[in-house]
Amino acid sequence: MVAPSQRTAPCVLHAEQLSRVYPSGEGTITALAPFTHVFAPGLTAVVGPSGSGKSTLLNLLAGFDTPTTGRVVVGETDLHALPEVRRADFRLAHYGFVFQNHNLVPILTALENVEFPLTLAGVPKRERRERARALLEGVGLSGRASHLPAQLSGGEAQRVAIARALARNPDVLLADEPTGNLDTRTGERVLELLIGPAREGRTVVLITHDREVATRADHTLQVRDGAVTVGG
Ligand SMILES: Nc1ncnc2c1ncn2[C@@H]1O[C@H](COP(=O)(O)OP(=O)(O)OP(=O)(O)O)[C@@H](O)[C@H]1O
Ligand SMILES: [Mg+2]
Repeated sequence: MVAPSQRTAPCVLHAEQLSRVYPSGEGTITALAPFTHVFAPGLTAVVGPSGSGKSTLLNLLAGFDTPTTGRVVVGETDLHALPEVRRADFRLAHYGFVFQNHNLVPILTALENVEFPLTLAGVPKRERRERARALLEGVGLSGRASHLPAQLSGGEAQRVAIARALARNPDVLLADEPTGNLDTRTGERVLELLIGPAREGRTVVLITHDREVATRADHTLQVRDGAVTVGG
């Protein structure tokens, strides 16, 4: 495994003729029509109406879902060509995710949630504690380290989720409406946390309904009825 400090070149995320068709009753739904796009380092906002295919796109980029056609290439790696177990390892090493509803482990404290990916990576306890504390501090939550997710506000939980996603310094950070349930000020704070890694050359893909948020992005993709176009 390559330590984050050893990585130099930004990792390019490439969607090639990527599509997803779901079975639906007697027929099918084209949730995502074939599209090709290079996700450049920096912040890419994905906008579009409800049901247009945004989450479908993100789940394919993450390798959570299997494309009907095409492929996702991360650096030199064809994501879906990897066997399941290796794909999970690859994801752990290169990706961070922020889900719409934070997905924190309810029985772990804020600190333990941030530490969790480092535990999976076999980072020694002392080192991962230190890193998790620094990450919590980075999202302004040092004072909440021992809180369980149920004891956190929505915005605090989302910030812990971002700290967790950043724990392994991922090349690719994917976020599905992380600011959707937050008030404007908290949403702004969460957005700043995603912009930071984008400025450092990470590839950050952010789904948002919020046009204001999209204006802060370096690149914008529009999804409409499964069709992806570049530009807002
Ligand atoms: N597992 C599935 N099986 C069948 N159809 C699905 C499945 N997942 C999504 N769809 C359909 O694919 C389309 C795109 O869904 P998707 O979740 O990508 O939309 P979205 O743009 O993320 O919407 P929202 O903004 O509401 O989250 C929708 O019509 C949805 O009903
Ligand atoms: Mg969605």
